[in-house]
Amino acid sequence: MLPQEFIYQLKQANPIEQVMGSYVQLIRAGSLLKCQCPFHSEKTPSCVVYADTQDQHFYCFGCHAGGDVISFIRQIEGIGYMDAIRMLAERAGIAVPAQGNHHNAENQRMRLLELNRAAANYYYKQLTGSDKRGLVYLKERALRPDIIKKYGLGFAGDQWDGLLIAMRQLGFTEEELLAANLCSRSAKNGNLYDRFKNRVMFPIIDLRGNVIAFGGRTIEKGGEPKYLNSSDTPVFKKGRNLFSMNFAKKSQSKRLILAEGYMDVIAVHQAGFENVVASLGTAITPDQCRLMRQYADEVVISYDSDAAGQNATVKAINLLRAVGLRPRILHMHDAKDPDEYIKKFGAPYFRKLLEDADDAMTYTLNHCRDGIDPSSEDGTITALHKAVDVLAGIENELDRNVYLSRVAKDYDIDPELLKSQVNRECNKRRAGAKKQHWQAKITAPRMRDPVNPEASQHLAEAKAEEQILYYLFQQPDALESVLARIKPEEFVTAFHRKVFEQLAKMLPQGYDFSLSLFSGEDFSPDEIGRITGIIAQNEILGSISPRGVEDCIRKLKQKPLQDVDVASLSDAEASAFFAQLRQNKR
Ligand code: UTP
Ligand code: MN
Repeated sequence: MLPQEFIYQLKQANPIEQVMGSYVQLIRAGSLLKCQCPFHSEKTPSCVVYADTQDQHFYCFGCHAGGDVISFIRQIEGIGYMDAIRMLAERAGIAVPAQGNHHNAENQRMRLLELNRAAANYYYKQLTGSDKRGLVYLKERALRPDIIKKYGLGFAGDQWDGLLIAMRQLGFTEEELLAANLCSRSAKNGNLYDRFKNRVMFPIIDLRGNVIAFGGRTIEKGGEPKYLNSSDTPVFKKGRNLFSMNFAKKSQSKRLILAEGYMDVIAVHQAGFENVVASLGTAITPDQCRLMRQYADEVVISYDSDAAGQNATVKAINLLRAVGLRPRILHMHDAKDPDEYIKKFGAPYFRKLLEDADDAMTYTLNHCRDGIDPSSEDGTITALHKAVDVLAGIENELDRNVYLSRVAKDYDIDPELLKSQVNRECNKRRAGAKKQHWQAKITAPRMRDPVNPEASQHLAEAKAEEQILYYLFQQPDALESVLARIKPEEFVTAFHRKVFEQLAKMLPQGYDFSLSLFSGEDFSPDEIGRITGIIAQNEILGSISPRGVEDCIRKLKQKPLQDVDVASLSDAEASAFFAQLRQNKR
């Protein structure tokens, strides 16, 4: 088997949009990328290409073909797994590693996690060592000792080889220090040196409690860069993790606060709001949004009040919405970020800001006027057109009318006039949607499910299994608790059992969920298509709650009645069995 790391790189180098685009014509329809399915004949496109997700894949709602880019090549070229890999590697100009390295890659991941933990310990100890500058800095930023400890903050001092020496003594190799991105190699003399120097250190911890990376803030005035972050390593992918999610996920609240930076998160947390996270020095990604969706219904975007922060806010609103999260937007006066706000005005006022946060609609409507001269007629018309577009996008009529009258008032125009404009736009959109709906119905062929033939005899069980699997796809860290209650052997249908077994094997090795976990010789393109289908179809239904999963598990635990051999039961058992049967019938 090939190392997952290589598969990840291979996919990075072969964006599905490019690869599929060289076989079929891709059409962009709003945020969707579609094409006419190359695997069955159709006139209108029902094959959706999910190119904007980290785990890129395609799925045909017509014939249920689907999978990642590797699976696409296998199907379209009619070739085997390894040939598809070689083809994509060649296309991207990267080398396929020799087989049999897989085990090493696993060991390496484990070693890097150990190394990161040891490094975090080292930095934490440095904080209270002879060089007190780190501790002084954190105190100046008003962090309490209990918070410093909780976050495991640390300090990298002035020495160029402090960490290097300490880690070598613990038996870590130069290769490991480089791979973890904790040391760099000097171009001058070829020696290793510490990457983080004169910085306070923020360990980044995943949902399973592993230290996977670091951010370091300079303590020197004007030091560059202000924050230095680990780049991606075999154990860290920036776009897939959120800072402080390990704490936020424990919060009972169905609301998350999304901030820009490490210090904001810690300041907000210290002020008593533990449900706060930040993306890691990049714009928020769809993967990060999905991660939040597993724990929350609502996200209060608390980005910086500057222009960059506001631009990022607009993007975040769309991405959060796309995964079914309700965005709200914090409106801060007289402070550039939450950290500064709390320092200036205190936690109670910050709570008030949270309560007063705008809903996305209000925020979006307010921003129709951005960059527009309000005193000019032209400007007002442009802004109004934008507002009509926004209003027409509101599904619920009651909601639409509420916002509509507000806009009419803001722009001081006749509400009836505005209403007729908005209605016209709504009708236009509705007609388009209806047409698409019928087209999809007409073109979707009725197919059986050859991948999981048992499903047709055990519909309810298969559905329950599917939901458990989908739950784990979304929430890999729940594996342990699910496994404690149900074992793969207890799955009724063979295909779902196989998928569950694969998850149980791969997830504990620290992998995130992705289709790559199934791309090997062990899973056929049809099977991968089936897994993609589970994702695509459940995505429409929305995420599954822990209670929902509990119900599914219970469903599978009920022994199917037809399996009971009545002749072997005692009289008491038999009468209980028939009583049960009667009750089931009712
Ligand atoms: P900011 O520059 O807004 O910093 O960057 P901040 O959070 O207010 O930091 P302090 O208060 O000056 O300490 C926001 C986030 O952007 C990323 C970091 O994640 C930071 O927390 N960033 C910023 C970097 O990754 N590198 C940089 O050089 C600067
Ligand atoms: Mn700040």
